[in-house]
Amino acid sequence: MGARGLRAVEIAALRRGIELGLTHIDTAEMYGNGAAEEVIAEAIAGWPREGLFIVSKVLPQNGTYDGTIAACEASLRRLRTPYLDVYLLHWRGRHPLGETMRALEDLVDAGRIRALGVSNFDVADMDEARSLLRRHPLACNQVLYHLRERYVERALLPYCRQHKIALCGYSPFGTETFPGPATAAGRVLGTIAARHGGRTTPRQVALAFLVREAPLFAIPKAALPEHVEENAGALHLRLTETDLREIDQAFLENRSSGDLPMG
Ligand SMILES: NC(=O)c1ccc[n+]([C@@H]2O[C@H](COP(=O)([O-])OP(=O)(O)OC[C@H]3O[C@@H](n4cnc5c(N)ncnc54)[C@H](OP(=O)(O)O)[C@@H]3O)[C@@H](O)[C@H]2O)c1
Repeated sequence: MGARGLRAVEIAALRRGIELGLTHIDTAEMYGNGAAEEVIAEAIAGWPREGLFIVSKVLPQNGTYDGTIAACEASLRRLRTPYLDVYLLHWRGRHPLGETMRALEDLVDAGRIRALGVSNFDVADMDEARSLLRRHPLACNQVLYHLRERYVERALLPYCRQHKIALCGYSPFGTETFPGPATAAGRVLGTIAARHGGRTTPRQVALAFLVREAPLFAIPKAALPEHVEENAGALHLRLTETDLREIDQAFLENRSSGDLPMG
């Protein structure tokens, strides 16, 4: 498929997702060097803005006070939207965190973003970010979280629960490595899916697990409309205590220690 055809499929996938209730749209200035934000602008054109939840991110190399403000304005221009629902620092970089946080707070005051957050921050970095904020709370931390990478459950999840900060898991399928029926753990997902009947799939079971409690969210990426439809099916799936326990056991060894992993 050519670049134009691919873009049309991606736009169709985004629109299908929005129709099905997948209204949380995650992007960043980094993705395609701004091109992803332009594709999103095309997909959401004509859709009531208040029905969408748009998140973008500033690159750490732009994380000075002026750089953050300018990066946000450029994202708003590319997205053709007057405001972002959340704006995140993509990961911690060399610029003083206080400058980035001050810029994010000023962007909230100016009505350019509704809330501010971070991405790829472990507990100590979150503590530091929160200590630097004067007027607005840290609303979100976006981190790598999938069944084979459960590091965030150790300390970040309890921390975010305590401080009422959304913990948004990215790469929820582990990108290309979703556990299939050739593995014991993959078969557990298949058994649970079958128990829920209908057209429930292992990927839907995985997504439902990853958003099983507040303040967890997941942001699967899908460029194909049929993938979007399958993922949207997870919105209505409620796992039982037994399901949760079985998944927990099947993927138990995947709470890695060490540093917060990044995708
Ligand atoms: N903050 C950060 O540092 C950071 C880092 C990485 C990612 N992210 C965010 O997280 C989002 C998701 O992460 P990701 O793209 O790394 O991983 P992912 O969502 O776990 O996996 C995406 C892959 O899964 C495929 N897929 C999706 N739904 C499927 C389905 N129902 N059946 C079969 N395959 C399916 C997609 O295929 P198709 O595309 O062909 O449908 C794509 O190849 C990104 O778009 C980005 O917004 C953030």
